[in-house]
Amino acid sequence: MFDILEMAPPDAILGLTEAFKSDSNPDKVNLSVGVYKDAAGGTPILECVKASERQILESEESKTYVNPNSGTPQYTQAVRALLFGKDHDLVDGGRAITAHTPGGTGALRVAGDYLHLLHGGATLWLSNPTWANHAGVFKAAGMQTNTYPYFDATSNVITVEKMIDKIKTIPSGDVVLLHGCCHNPTGADLTLQQWTTVAETLKARQLVPLIDFAYQGFAVGIEEDAAGLRIVCELCPEVMICSSFSKNFGLYNERVGALTVVAESSATAAKVLSHIKRCIRTNYSNPPAHGSAIVSTVLGDCQLRQQWIQEVEQMRNRINTTRQQFADSLTNAGVNLSNQGNAFITEQNGMFSFSGLSKDQVGALRERYAVYVVGDGRINVAGLTEANIPFVSNAIAQVVGA
Ligand SMILES: Cc1ncc(COP(=O)(O)O)c(C=O)c1O
Repeated sequence: MFDILEMAPPDAILGLTEAFKSDSNPDKVNLSVGVYKDAAGGTPILECVKASERQILESEESKTYVNPNSGTPQYTQAVRALLFGKDHDLVDGGRAITAHTPGGTGALRVAGDYLHLLHGGATLWLSNPTWANHAGVFKAAGMQTNTYPYFDATSNVITVEKMIDKIKTIPSGDVVLLHGCCHNPTGADLTLQQWTTVAETLKARQLVPLIDFAYQGFAVGIEEDAAGLRIVCELCPEVMICSSFSKNFGLYNERVGALTVVAESSATAAKVLSHIKRCIRTNYSNPPAHGSAIVSTVLGDCQLRQQWIQEVEQMRNRINTTRQQFADSLTNAGVNLSNQGNAFITEQNGMFSFSGLSKDQVGALRERYAVYVVGDGRINVAGLTEANIPFVSNAIAQVVGA
């Protein structure tokens, strides 16, 4: 059974980190995986997380299963308050249900399982480009996937007309995945006007939006970053949202996320939840509790919540300062990564910059300078520091022949 196996291809992103770890070059720089790094190159635990863990350690009385397996009301309500705003009807109005999942990937997979089980004919439409794992997750759930145009890499702009034209041709009942903010890998987000046009088109075509929301707080702010999805929820009767707290709480290895579904009525939402609970039961049965306890403790305590908002702001500010330093350093090294110069780097949102570097240039960066970038040219800006920016800029100058 096992003898005949070939090696599986390495994961487009995680495979690079494995290669990075075994690279002996002392100057190596990892700009591949989407993990926040501080100015010293570390990924520290947030202070609000440490404080909440102390409280949890004192007060928790059991490690029994999470009941129901879709998560505690404290956690699921806190998730909806973050998505919709704390006083919104959808927070506890019954039309929106939430299931606690292991990370954002778990939320995407449960959404895929649910869609495959109950709407087996539906195709999932992804932006071109998108996060390298999206297609794999939905295909593993048995779904068909396809793509809609999103971005023009030569001019670094969203091709919104082409996107809308394509959406107008998608058969009713299909599902369209949108990135809530900090589009991965391009860092280019829709304006609020564009969100409205996209939502109206989805509604008119009777398509279901599935919003992947992995970076709330990394673009402009916690509330501001939810503005696009709030427009979609106003206009479209049915919406699916996948939240991740890996980045904005720094809880990468705790695996904490959520799948929220907005239905037309609370009776329908209750039925949806019952099927989602079945999908969970037959997959991992029960979610990991610790990360969700941290999130609900922080969000349920005024002081810790305030501290969290500040800590997210610090991460966001560092990324934005680094974007500016990187763009300046490239310009000083004589590199122009687009025909409009390097200003686009400072205009993108979130951790990533879609650099426009070709596959060959990315390969040369890795082989000659041990600078690790994802094959599509996506750079994790948070992996840059004042210390490594000159080295990386010079390496890029060499591979692009500036
Ligand atoms: C767009 C997008 N969606 C989902 C995820 C999954 O996050 P998690 O680690 O919580 O599974 C990521 C992580 O990199 C992401 O970039």
